[in-house]
Amino acid sequence: METSKAIEGLRVAVTGGTSGLGLALVRRLSDIGARVAFVARSADAVERVAADTGSIGVVGDVGDKDAIYPIALQITGNLGGIDVLINNASSLGPTPLALLADTECEELETALAVNLVGPFRLTKALYGALAASAREHRGSVVVNISSDAAVNAYPEWGAYGASKAALGHLTSIWHEESNALGIHFLSIDPGDMDTPLHALAVPDADASTLKHPDQSAMEVIAAITAALPQRTVALQGNRP
Ligand SMILES: NC(=O)c1ccc[n+]([C@@H]2O[C@H](COP(=O)([O-])OP(=O)(O)OC[C@H]3O[C@@H](n4cnc5c(N)ncnc54)[C@H](OP(=O)(O)O)[C@@H]3O)[C@@H](O)[C@H]2O)c1
Repeated sequence: METSKAIEGLRVAVTGGTSGLGLALVRRLSDIGARVAFVARSADAVERVAADTGSIGVVGDVGDKDAIYPIALQITGNLGGIDVLINNASSLGPTPLALLADTECEELETALAVNLVGPFRLTKALYGALAASAREHRGSVVVNISSDAAVNAYPEWGAYGASKAALGHLTSIWHEESNALGIHFLSIDPGDMDTPLHALAVPDADASTLKHPDQSAMEVIAAITAALPQRTVALQGNRP
């Protein structure tokens, strides 16, 4: 199915939508007709991206337990439901990156809170709305953004790598458990991209060797499209 046709009219939420891959996703999805809500902590950046893209900006911290329901309500309230959730916001843990022996317990907790528990909480808070989307044959997909640090034991990437490995396994189990409801879960490693997160982790990297986040965004959108084989027909009668 043609990507833009499949995505048009979809209600999509992206966490971490003001920078890097998340910003590229918000821009591209909005351009091809999705109705997009995105989340980030900096109110100024949220306001700027919302104005630039015509999407819904939500200020919130996905690592904060108390913020999850307000975030979920703003997403579903503004979009009238949700068809696709992209858990993209991420924490490196300690910065500069550190050996595990030099990582504070609180830094590991932050990586787990933002990269693992936050996506779990937000998915749970939106699960009923995602199931409703699947029932209505709109297509229901959750994308959890992973990393090669989830599978390779890179020194100094311990907190981040462990959180992404756990997120990957959680994604597989969510997928098995949600098959009957028609909710598809995808784990996607976007590759090494030229973004602020990468610059913080590897300050001396040669940017010319890194992917542009737009390229990874296109790949994520193509994967979502592939997981939505039947939805265009059903959506045509439902479009607002
Ligand atoms: N860049 C790479 O090479 C690379 C490689 C493999 C995987 N990844 C993955 O790709 C994803 C995107 O990374 P990126 O490089 O595009 O990152 P980025 O440029 O640093 O952007 C991160 C975004 O997430 C938001 N954010 C961070 N913490 C948040 C929190 N607790 N709650 C809500 N929003 C939060 C940031 O805005 P605020 O700071 O205002 O909240 C920003 O919008 C991440 O999952 C990352 O692990 C990246």
